[in-house]
This record gives sequence, C-alpha cells and structure tokens, in this order.
Amino acid sequence: PHRVFSGMQPTHSLHLGNYLGAMVNWVKMQETHDCIYCVVDLHAITLWQDPKELRSNIRELTAAYIAGGVDPERSIIFNQSAVAAHAELAWVFNCVARMGWLNRMTQFKEKAGKDRENVSTGLFVYPNLMAADILVYRATHVPVGEDQKQHLELARNIAQKFNNDFAESIAAHGFAEEFFPLPEPFITGPATRVMSLRDGTKKMSKSDPSDYSRINMTDDADAIAQKVRKARTDPEPLPSELEGLKERAGAENLVGIYAALAGTSKEAVLAEYGGQGFAAFKPALADLAVARLAPIADEMRRLLADPAEIDALLARGADRARAIADPIMDEVKDVVGLLRPH
Ligand code: TYM
Repeated sequence: PHRVFSGMQPTHSLHLGNYLGAMVNWVKMQETHDCIYCVVDLHAITLWQDPKELRSNIRELTAAYIAGGVDPERSIIFNQSAVAAHAELAWVFNCVARMGWLNRMTQFKEKAGKDRENVSTGLFVYPNLMAADILVYRATHVPVGEDQKQHLELARNIAQKFNNDFAESIAAHGFAEEFFPLPEPFITGPATRVMSLRDGTKKMSKSDPSDYSRINMTDDADAIAQKVRKARTDPEPLPSELEGLKERAGAENLVGIYAALAGTSKEAVLAEYGGQGFAAFKPALADLAVARLAPIADEMRRLLADPAEIDALLARGADRARAIADPIMDEVKDVVGLLRPH
C-alpha cells in the first residue's frame, strides 16, 4: 500500500493555512493509506528556538494533530528528533544533493533575506532533511500546501541521484533498482495556498507581523469574527462563476477558505452566494469558521491538560516509526558502504 508522510514545524500555533492546506488532507488520507505524521522539531531549530517554548510547542502541535482528526492509533504520530534515522539519512543526503540545487530554493532565500552570511547552515540544508524524512520510510505520497512544492521536487531529485549514484551497489545487494521511490506531492483542494486576510497576494503565514492577517486555530469566536469582518476585499458582490474572481485576490481567498471549511468547491460556494455582497458573505464565513475551529481548540485544551499522556503517545509513535525507518537506514548504510560492525 502507498505510504503517506507529512510534517509541520512546532514553531508556532497552527493557522488556518496549515489546517486547510495540509491537515484536512492528512485526515482524509488515513481512510486509504498508511500514514505517518511527524512533528518536525529538528527543522524548527534551523532558526533559534527557546528550549522551554520548543518543548511546549511540540506537545501543542501533537495535540493539534489529534484534535484536528489524526487518529494516533491508525496513523503514526511522533516527533522527528526521537527517531535518529532522520538525521542519519539527512547527512547522507547532504553528500548527495548539490549546492546548486539548494541555491535555487526560494524558501531559503525568503527566510535568509539579506542576512545570508548570518543564518544557520542548517537552514540551507533544511530541504535535505525534509527529503530524508520522507524517504527513510520510502513514503510515496506527501500531502502539503502549495509552498512545499519546490522542496518536494528536490526530494525527487535526491532520490533519483541516490538511485543512480549507487546503482551498482544497489543491484549487488539485491535491492530493487528504484531503491528510493520518487515521492509525489499531494497538493489538492480549494485551499492549497491560503492567503493573508490583509493582502490577498501574500501567503497566510506565521511570520506576518499582523495577527489580523491570519486566523489561528486557537482564536476564539470574537477574534475570528473580527478578523473576517476586517479582511480586505472589494466593494463588488460575489460573482456566480469562477471566472469572475480573476483579479480579485481578497475575494477569491475568502471563497476558497469557505469552500475548504465546508468541504465543497469554490464553484459550489459561488453557486450559493453569487450576487450577494460581503456584508452577507463575511458573517456566514465567520460562523462556519467558528463552527469548524471551536471544537478543535476545545479538544486541544483538553489534551494539553495531560502532557504526560501526550508524551506517552509520542513515545509509542516513535517506536512504531523506528520499526520502519531503522531497517531502511541499515539498507542505506550497506548500499553506501558504511560498515555496520556486529
Ligand atoms: P510548515 O510547518 O511551514 O507548514 C505545515 C504545512 O502547512 C502548509 N501551509 C499552507 N498551506 C496553504 N496555505 C498556506 N498559507 C500555508 N502555510 C503553510 C505547508 O505547505 C505545510 O504542508 N517543510 C515543512 C515541514 C516538513 C515536511 C517534511 C512536510 C518537514 N519535513 C516532510 C512534508 C514532508 C514546513 O515547513 O511546513
């Protein structure tokens, strides 16, 4: 069966982009696939994190996964640093990926900004660790938002180069020619790129200084209603066809959010609201958001009241993850010629 892998960084509380762009698909894919969902704490420290906060953010994100609908029995939930094979394979990939490939990563350029000389080297090789996350399980399907597409292409290039560079050794050990499968990004639904509520041309992001730009998963009903009311749109009523949303980034974003929250398509939303103004649409959107998000926030709070239970759950998940990753890492060592004395 196809194996699914995805992850989020425990650097912040979740926002609506994370939830609608990725997690909604994670939950769905549990029905049809074996899924592994990781709290990527090693990725988080590519930018400095306060240790106390990091620890509590790891637990909080774990609670968000479960409250959002990831079933810890059916799927594997764990934190990245608890399974050493991620970092081990990432090192091998640091020796496979080329400087030129990483130099082209737009997310690195954005995060490093003008201060390129002064960011951690981990931030530069971040995508190699991400490739290792996926390939150490030979995962084939990776549900993410649009912004991770380039990183997924890099993971495919790494898999392919590894398979080529070590083709002879792979064959000599009797392993399949496609030692690492080429992972497929799974970017789908009406909200693969949720935009800022303040500026429909910018991505909704944790790093936006304005809290009015995003809806956080833990926002209360008042905050959600206020943020939606203040969302930047235009004075025209909603069109009844998708075509009519062109050049109307703010309007298109809200329609996409509504569709994703309602589990339907943008077309269906326009069929219902076409011809109506934002004075009618925004309160409907706010009500829908509150109805969907409030139970998740409540469940998160309930889970976080017992951190020991969350830790126990992460420990079980890490055991299950190691049982898959360690034998694959052993194969990698054999293929590369890294002696495993025993
Ligand atoms: P992160 O933590 O930045 O984001 C988590 C997920 O949320 C999606 N996302 C969005 N989707 C739609 N609209 C938005 N505005 C929006 N903002 C964020 C992201 O695409 C992502 O799916 N590098 C990854 C974490 C990672 C990973 C992996 C993912 C590490 N290893 C292996 C998949 C497979 C990241 O920083 O996500």
